[in-house]
Amino acid sequence: MKQPTVEEDLVGLDMIYREHILDHYKNPRNHGTIEHADISYHDNNPLCGDEIKIAVTLDSEKKVDDVKFIGRGCAISQCAASMLTEEIKGKSLEDVKKIRNQDIIDMLSIPISPVRMKCAILSLKVLEAGIYEYEKKQKQQKVPITEA
Ligand code: FES
Repeated sequence: MKQPTVEEDLVGLDMIYREHILDHYKNPRNHGTIEHADISYHDNNPLCGDEIKIAVTLDSEKKVDDVKFIGRGCAISQCAASMLTEEIKGKSLEDVKKIRNQDIIDMLSIPISPVRMKCAILSLKVLEAGIYEYEKKQKQQKVPITEA
């Protein structure tokens, strides 16, 4: 799949929706990296190779203290990542895990064709995989060591 340009992604949208997308595309929120993050995951959209990396630090109550992302890709994937990071700041991990694909579509507020669904949900998939890995590691650390 060839990556559409931001202009192609904005074709046919009302001004208000164009500005909403362009704002996040030109000024992505929470853009960057975090050293020693609790959750850190990177993946790509296998159809086009576009990628997102998300890093999260948690506070003592397991709420999102900080979140950053870096990525490369179409306007929809990068805007969704920007909006998702804004959405999860301060939320508990349990609430973050309740975010569904439809929530991302609602955040984007533009029609998403079936073929662009993978773009829209790339950052959520990366975040979900990162949380899964984090929780797996936490469980492993809690397993008591038994003598053979
Ligand atoms: Fe690659 Fe959208 S075209 S994520």
